[in-house]
Amino acid sequence: MNYQWYPGHMTKAKRMMQENIKLIDLIIELVDARAPLSSRNPDIDELGKNKARLILLNKGDLADERQNRAWEAYFQAQGFFTACLDARKRNDIKQISQIIQESCREKTERDRKRGILNRPIRAMVAGIPNVGKSTFINSFAGRTCAKTGNKPGVTKGKQWIRLNKQVELLDTPGILWPKFEDQQVGLKLAVIGSIREELLVEEELCMWLLAYLREYYPGSVEKRYQVQETGEMPEVLERIALVRGCVQKGGGPDFERAAFLVTDDFRSGRLGRVTLEIPAAEESGEQDG
Ligand code: G4P
Repeated sequence: MNYQWYPGHMTKAKRMMQENIKLIDLIIELVDARAPLSSRNPDIDELGKNKARLILLNKGDLADERQNRAWEAYFQAQGFFTACLDARKRNDIKQISQIIQESCREKTERDRKRGILNRPIRAMVAGIPNVGKSTFINSFAGRTCAKTGNKPGVTKGKQWIRLNKQVELLDTPGILWPKFEDQQVGLKLAVIGSIREELLVEEELCMWLLAYLREYYPGSVEKRYQVQETGEMPEVLERIALVRGCVQKGGGPDFERAAFLVTDDFRSGRLGRVTLEIPAAEESGEQDG
């Protein structure tokens, strides 16, 4: 889906989030494990202050395992509860229920001291488009859960999905808008397929990706396409085009088709598990691409 983020749209999304946040104890924020900072919108920190916070590194199956662990440590050091998962896998979801309870332990204790027992934790899923919110909610809401109807005192039309006695999830996710201002952010979001960036040309995206892979995952391009990854990037892309039969009528390389092929391979994990942001480098500002 192509989301158009214009100021009116963002204001509406923000208003919806503000309304829904009043109803919940916990924000389950999904980020893309391949670009955990670019796929976040830090406005959520202001919107969600005073709420328990859990960051899920989703699509962890496509990201570098070592970096998954590094990113979990990074967010934990900032006080977030974290988990890494593949939202399509119900088994991965099981562990989340336990982390949800841990992340709300303080609140449950407070309730208990006030004599409020067995009030379920209410949570909302939030994240930018395509990060896996609906997939997560669907997996979460599998056979064992029942949908609960509208509750007295709760805004009309809200549906809660009951995971168990302890946890209920709002069935409509909060949609966060990506931060487009930074060009690097736009690039990474386009490469992971989170946004369709009309201003960026497919070949440019692809060459950025090839350069990144050569620097951080040397050998992965050679392994997949059996081509040398040395030299200027257009030359590398040309080699890929030729071995993969992406040629124009006149016989010259079809760069655009080759670029689509490479980005599609990347998005489907066929170029290996790759993370586009590295926490240590992010902190020291070393990584510029
Ligand atoms: P959204 O609600 O946040 O917008 O995202 P949604 O759940 O629709 O997920 C977007 C795409 O990402 C879906 O693919 C979904 O299957 C995939 N996805 C979600 N979570 C994971 C995960 O943990 N790992 C992997 N590998 N994929 C995940 P789709 O609708 O089939 O689109 P596409 O695959 O054709 O691009």
